[in-house]
Amino acid sequence: MFQFEQSIRLKTLPEQFFASLVAKVNDIQAQGHDVINLGQGNPDQPTPEHIVKSLQMAAEKPTNHKYSPFKGYQYLKDAASAYYRREFGVELDANEEVAILFGGKAGLVELPLCLLNPGDTVLVPDPGYPDYLSGTALALVKSEFMPLLEENDFLPDYNFLDSDVVQRAKMMFLNYPNNPTGASATNEFFEKTVSFAKKHSVCVVHDFAYGAIGFDGIKPISFLQTEGAKDIGIEVYTLSKTYNMAGWRVGFAVGNKSVIQAIELLQDHLYVSLFPAIQEAAATALLDSQDCVSELVATYENRRNIFINGLRSIGWEVSAPKASFFAWLKVPVGFTSETFADYLLNEAHVAVAAGNGFGTYGEGYVRVGLLTSEERLAEAIQRIESLHLF
Ligand SMILES: Cc1ncc(COP(=O)(O)O)c(C=O)c1O
Repeated sequence: MFQFEQSIRLKTLPEQFFASLVAKVNDIQAQGHDVINLGQGNPDQPTPEHIVKSLQMAAEKPTNHKYSPFKGYQYLKDAASAYYRREFGVELDANEEVAILFGGKAGLVELPLCLLNPGDTVLVPDPGYPDYLSGTALALVKSEFMPLLEENDFLPDYNFLDSDVVQRAKMMFLNYPNNPTGASATNEFFEKTVSFAKKHSVCVVHDFAYGAIGFDGIKPISFLQTEGAKDIGIEVYTLSKTYNMAGWRVGFAVGNKSVIQAIELLQDHLYVSLFPAIQEAAATALLDSQDCVSELVATYENRRNIFINGLRSIGWEVSAPKASFFAWLKVPVGFTSETFADYLLNEAHVAVAAGNGFGTYGEGYVRVGLLTSEERLAEAIQRIESLHLF
C-alpha cells in the first residue's frame, strides 16, 4: 500500500502531552492497581438535568434535524450576549461580537489561522494549556513564551519580554483563571495588558475556560470588563467547565468585531455550525437557573480545602488555588516534575500531571485536577503520606 506523507503542518504539530500520561496510567491499571487519577482536566460530574432535558426535547424537533445557519442560530448568540451582561456587566452586539464555536479548543486552534501568516510571532504563556501550540503549529507561526512566575502571581511581566519579540508579536494568548497554575487575573493586570497590546498592535486572545470557577467568594473577572479590551482582543468562553458539558463541544468567542468576522469566515468554510439541538440546550444552560453553577463551584471549593489542608497536614507546603479546578504544587527537593509524577504513580498509584509538560517554566511543579470525590482525594493524601516524603 502507498504510504502517504503527512503535510508539513501535521509534522510540525507538538506531541500530545497527555498521551504519555494516559499510557502510563493504563499500564499501572493493567497490573491490577487502583489508580487515583488526578492527572487530567475532564470534569467528573454529569451535565445538569435541565440541560440534558432541553437537548432531549430539542432533538425531537424535525426543524433541528436540518443544517444550522453557517454561523449558528441567532438565539444562541443572543443567549451568550445576555450571559455576559448578567454575569460580567459586559455589553455585546450579538450580531457582530459573538461567534459560536465547537468548544473553546476549536476557537483557540483556529485563531492563529484566522489572523496570522506563516512566520508571524505569537506570545504564549509558559506554563500554559498545551493546545495553544497546536494552533500556532498549524498556522506555521512562531511561538515566543511569556514566563509565568510564582513571584509574579503567575501573571506575565511585559517589561521583561525581549523588545525584538514584542515588536514582532501579532497575537497573545492569556488564560485566567489559569490552567495549570490556578492563578487569577487582576483588573490592574488586564489594564496593563490592554495598554501593552494597543501600543504594540497585538491581538489579545483571553481564554476564559474557567470563568465561572472562583473560590472564597471571588468571582473571576472577564477581560472584556477592562476599558478598551474590545478594541484589541477577544475572549473565548466554553460551556465545558461551567456546566459540565465537556463532551458536547460548545463555546463562543466574544469581543473585537474584526476577529469575530475572521473566525466566522474560516468556520463558514470548515463546517456548518453545531447540531441545532445542542445550540438550544446551550442557550438553556446560559439563560436558566444558575444554581447548578454555584453548587459546582462549592463542590470544587470543598475539594480544594480538603486536599490542600490534607497536604499541609502531612508536611507538604503548598499554595491553595484561587480559582479553576487545578492545584499547582511544588515538588519536594530532589525530584524533577517528571521523576516525582512517576514516583507518585508507581509507588502510591496517584496520577498527577508533570509540570514540565506545560512548558519550561512548569518544571518543579505538578498539576493536580480536583476532579474526583472528597473521599478519593482524602485517600490520595493517605497514600502520599505513606511514602514518608515530608
Ligand atoms: C485552559 C483551557 N482552555 C480551553 C480548554 C478547552 O475546553 P473546550 O474545548 O472543552 O471548550 C481547556 C480544556 O481543558 C482548558 O483547560
